[in-house]
Amino acid sequence: MLSPRRPWEGRRVVLGVTGGIAAYKSVQVARDLALLGAQVDVILTSAAERFVGGPSFEGVTGRPALTQLFSVEGAALHLRLGREADAIVVAPATADLLARAAQGRADDLLTTTLLATKGPVILCPAMNDRMFAHSQVQRNLTHCRDVLGYRIAGPSTGALAAGEGEGTGRMLEPDTIVQHVGRALGESTAFRGRCVLITSGPTREAVDPVRFVGNRSSGRMGHALAEAAWRRGAEVTVVSGPVSVDPPVGAEVVRIDTAVEMRDAVAGRIGSADVVLFAAAVADFRPEEAQLSKVKRSGGESSLDLHMVANPDVAVETRSARKTGAFVVGFALETEDLVENARLKLESKGFDLVVANPAGVVGAGFESDTNQVTMVGPDGATEVLASMDKDAVADAVLDRVDALLSAR
Ligand code: CTP
Repeated sequence: MLSPRRPWEGRRVVLGVTGGIAAYKSVQVARDLALLGAQVDVILTSAAERFVGGPSFEGVTGRPALTQLFSVEGAALHLRLGREADAIVVAPATADLLARAAQGRADDLLTTTLLATKGPVILCPAMNDRMFAHSQVQRNLTHCRDVLGYRIAGPSTGALAAGEGEGTGRMLEPDTIVQHVGRALGESTAFRGRCVLITSGPTREAVDPVRFVGNRSSGRMGHALAEAAWRRGAEVTVVSGPVSVDPPVGAEVVRIDTAVEMRDAVAGRIGSADVVLFAAAVADFRPEEAQLSKVKRSGGESSLDLHMVANPDVAVETRSARKTGAFVVGFALETEDLVENARLKLESKGFDLVVANPAGVVGAGFESDTNQVTMVGPDGATEVLASMDKDAVADAVLDRVDALLSAR
């Protein structure tokens, strides 16, 4: 059992909660931020207290929930919170909070703290869809974003409260909000504003309309890389084969089925990518001809011959279209001679770094939550990482890319 990762140890996050029904989800946001190591100070507005109580937040953060502008700490609490916060996230942010923030009001602890910070502020709007579409709300939102520089996360579209049907106004889900906080905390100079292109998941090569040749890649490694790159401030595009994992937060996802489709999707995008990560498990061969109708065994056949032909190598065939100076990472799944084979792939495919992992090992590779990788660098230097979850592997790989890019 791996011990939980606490990448945000020592980071301070203020979570502002205002009075909307989505406030019940904010307890989960507080809990997840705290589990990731952040010190979380929760500020409840008086309206929020009608929906959720301070003790719920105190239970998950281990810190007192704050409600009063004038507290035992004296009149300077908002100044300390604003100064010390590495990020402030307001979830839910009601129409009233947006109005007060846009006006620069200082009529409670939350709005006063917003005025007292120089750190990143994320607002997660949540309200009924008619309210959200109201021109005054939109104006406040635009002001918060364009004039005050606040980041606006959401809302999403879906079921609304009070039987109001479907619409745009739902607060983002807690795990998505946590990723937005991660981006505010984790931006790095090597990744901020850079375009990152990632291939992910398996490809499926059709045998007939109902069958395919594929592999057991879950897409979890590509997903973890996409979220990690986005948290560092990159603009991320993922070209993904069919997977059942949720789409990575923040990334544009281009869905494809076959290796040929993946090659074409990558070819059209790689020219603008500063960093490329080839994490897909591309099928090396495909049936020469996909049958147009289902292959039947009604004739009593005892065998079926499938003639397979080689698929394009996505990394190699798009090599000439790479942007000058792009940093390119390949992955290598090997059953033997891990490092030697990884080195060969680094050279033959023009990679700057290869992340090699052993096939057929428990706790590594396909369908596993964890991975055990060796990184092989440009000078042949290797770095063997301990078995860790795929999010941690993604961070370790991007740390390496970060260092190599910064050294250029
Ligand atoms: N790759 C690719 N297109 C392919 C096959 C592989 O882009 N048709 C990429 C993978 O995404 C990975 C790297 O090339 O980044 C190495 O993939 P891997 O499957 O380990 O190796 P192969 O090139 O397929 O070689 P082999 O099967 O001989 O190990």
